[in-house]
Amino acid sequence: MLRVAVIHGPNLDLLGARDPEHYGSLTLDEVNRLITAAAEELKIEVRISQHNHEGAVVEAIHEAARWAHAIVINPAAFTHYSVAVRDALEASGLPAIEVHLSNIHAREEFRHTSLVVPVCKGQICGFGWRGYLLGLLALLDLLEN
Ligand code: DQA
Repeated sequence: MLRVAVIHGPNLDLLGARDPEHYGSLTLDEVNRLITAAAEELKIEVRISQHNHEGAVVEAIHEAARWAHAIVINPAAFTHYSVAVRDALEASGLPAIEVHLSNIHAREEFRHTSLVVPVCKGQICGFGWRGYLLGLLALLDLLEN
């Protein structure tokens, strides 16, 4: 069975209340329930975590390297400046998919840059919470073929 760590970065615990025009109206718990339900149907084991601190995201990636086959990560603001998150993903050696709820390329210029995407298989953005499901599907396809 494919084992995937789903990692949410800072401020995503505020989903539902935070800027719904960009991030939708579902809470993080609701999003996580949808991810869990989809993973069950796809026969993927997921462990989901959310962290507001950069070091905690780094540690979650280290932890994933000990049990998971792959990572789906929304590094949130860390996307745009964290060398530490980028290096942790690279060091994990795991295939990773970068997910964003909003289309970061259609927003402020500072969001157009991702330090993380060069060490990911790809980036999915602009499809709201469904981006996480697309990430799981992408991994299934990548790892089964
Ligand atoms: C985000 C986009 C980031 O630019 C922002 O800092 C976030 C959320 C997204 O999911 O659209 O916190 O990663």
